[in-house]
Amino acid sequence: MLGFRGDVAVITIDNPPVNAGSAKVRAGLLEALGALGDRNGIKVAIIIGAGKTFMAGSDIREFGAPLSDPQLPAVIAAIEACPVPVIAAIHGAALGGGFELALGCDYRIAQPGARIGLPEVGLGLVPGAGGTQRLPRLVGMEAALELVVSAKRIDAQRGYDLGAIDALSDGDILDDALAFADTGLAKRPLHAMAIAPFEHAAVKSLSAKLIAKAKGRPAAEKAAHLTLQSLEHDLRDGLEIERAVFQDIRITPEAFAYRYQFFAERQASKNPFDAQAKTIAAVAVVGLGTMGAGIAYCFLRAGYKVIGIEGDQDLLDTGLGRIDALIEKDIAASRITPEAAQSMRENLLGNASIEAAKDADLALEAIFEDLAVKRDLLGRLSAVLSPDALIATNTSYLDIDAMAEAVSHPERFFGLHFFSPAHIMSLLEIVSSTSSSAGAIASGFAIARKLGKQPVFARNSYGFIGNRIYAAYRRQAEFLLEDGAEPPEIDAAMIGFGMALGPFAVSDLSGLDIAWRMRQAQAASRDPKARYVRIADQLCEAGRLGRKTGAGFYDYPNGKPVASPIVTEIIDAERRARAITPRTIGSHEIQARCFGAMVNEAVLLLEEGVALRGSDIDVVLVHGYGFPRWLGGPMWHAAHMEPAALDSAIDLAAQAEGVTFRRGDAATALATLKNQN
Ligand code: NAI
Repeated sequence: MLGFRGDVAVITIDNPPVNAGSAKVRAGLLEALGALGDRNGIKVAIIIGAGKTFMAGSDIREFGAPLSDPQLPAVIAAIEACPVPVIAAIHGAALGGGFELALGCDYRIAQPGARIGLPEVGLGLVPGAGGTQRLPRLVGMEAALELVVSAKRIDAQRGYDLGAIDALSDGDILDDALAFADTGLAKRPLHAMAIAPFEHAAVKSLSAKLIAKAKGRPAAEKAAHLTLQSLEHDLRDGLEIERAVFQDIRITPEAFAYRYQFFAERQASKNPFDAQAKTIAAVAVVGLGTMGAGIAYCFLRAGYKVIGIEGDQDLLDTGLGRIDALIEKDIAASRITPEAAQSMRENLLGNASIEAAKDADLALEAIFEDLAVKRDLLGRLSAVLSPDALIATNTSYLDIDAMAEAVSHPERFFGLHFFSPAHIMSLLEIVSSTSSSAGAIASGFAIARKLGKQPVFARNSYGFIGNRIYAAYRRQAEFLLEDGAEPPEIDAAMIGFGMALGPFAVSDLSGLDIAWRMRQAQAASRDPKARYVRIADQLCEAGRLGRKTGAGFYDYPNGKPVASPIVTEIIDAERRARAITPRTIGSHEIQARCFGAMVNEAVLLLEEGVALRGSDIDVVLVHGYGFPRWLGGPMWHAAHMEPAALDSAIDLAAQAEGVTFRRGDAATALATLKNQN
């Protein structure tokens, strides 16, 4: 949309809700720029966004198909060819293609809090409309590398300090842009701008560091390379090279998987029920152990009042100390200001009695994983709280229907399953019992949004979505152990698959005792015919509980995991006892069986209605369990691999478990995913 304010042309981008750069938007911009040429007396042009933002990014739905013209580089070329200087007036966000559009303008004015950056690498892409070429010319090589490769978003104030923004606007962005337009601006082509001199060795090591940190982001290396290349070419050639890489990378399977995850996350974030969330100001967190302290800190950071409750005064002091340590750590790392820390401390009350929960709008329990203890607490909490206050549990595995029986007005009870460390991990499973009300679940989603977490809805089931799939994966890893593979072989194969860590390294890290206690609790109800591997139990009996005891599936002589002769002996003895002749198992079979086990369980979860959709399962595994994002998640990956390879993985996993998998169910569940972009 083109308008005029005296001798200034104002081009407004208007594509609600976030002015995503679609083909239509690009065509509109090009048309407006073209129309400028027909008007005499125009001194300056301003590009601005209608509504709440400049341009939050390109419309990534377009990236899976041939791009329609005009493409963004053509729009930017028209800006550069425009006879008058063009100003980008930025409020809200200028990200990805939006930031590239702004970089293509002669000047940028922005509100200090506006978000700018090039998040493409986080979507498995590289910037494709000049981001890697223009940014180094404005901010220097080091800052540009950091922004491009880490996909970091910064605020415009920081952008101003770096040189990416020319002026800041404290008031109305259009008024300030008009005033800026009046300061005698001249055309400022970036072609002519040289990159500021820098220390080559420092930049090389920064680039290597950033690529290493972006582990799992295949686009990071390409993006770093393109940015560094901006030195070697003039801008025109650099832009062509960048565009070619972008066109290639956007249609790679990895880029499809990233885009799929992007939309899967958004879909999972929507409350599945039509109900009103309860307004929550004060939250009681009962149990300030590992999880409770982290959870309390999450609520404090988001501005809630928190009542932290422990069993007695000593435990309370320890628990409050844990929260304080988290606050201190974030101050030290400049993640929060001392003022913010002060207000969190004012918002935190500690108490050794659950009576203190009486004014809370929500009480969340994070006490020991023991059904009887939890039921007792929930009964007492129900009596203390007002009848419309919500009650949630952070249980990892326990039956929340059985917990709901202990709650008066059980419709207000539900699961809020955080992951460890709670203040860092983004995933939050919102678990419905059979009696949870839609309002309670809606409140869970509202809380997730306020805490900045990625919610996923789940119904009650042993381990809900994530832990249930992970348990199936772990079980399969132990079958492999019994069948002949060693822990380092299995871990290495799964890292080769793309998992952040191997399953035995994870066990050692989180401690073997929790799962051990659980297996003991279930021993009586276990199907005696089901295959059961005793190796982990024997490690626990030998006091090898993982890293915290200095030994688990591995020894840790210098803090680093090494294969343990004691573990080998335990495994060998167990194989003999089971009359299993160990065989060499290659990484391909290890990966196939572990992956097949995940898919089998995922399909069961869908069938049972524990998960609403396959994409929710993928969000859980990617966010909570180190499943590689570039494979999209287990369901996406299964839907896109060779059907014969998937069949074989599912069969191998089922065979090892001694069950027959119902392939028809798997096929239906997977077919729905296949057609998604
Ligand atoms: P923890 O043992 O570190 O903490 C439990 C805390 O609860 C202790 O500080 C204890 O003093 C307190 N407590 C026990 N009974 C209490 C009572 N009646 N009143 C007040 N306080 C009481 O345990 P952790 O690891 O924090 O686990 C807590 C819950 O979170 C469990 O249900 C667990 O399954 C779940 N969870 C644990 C995860 C983990 O990785 N550790 C991950 C996700 C969930």
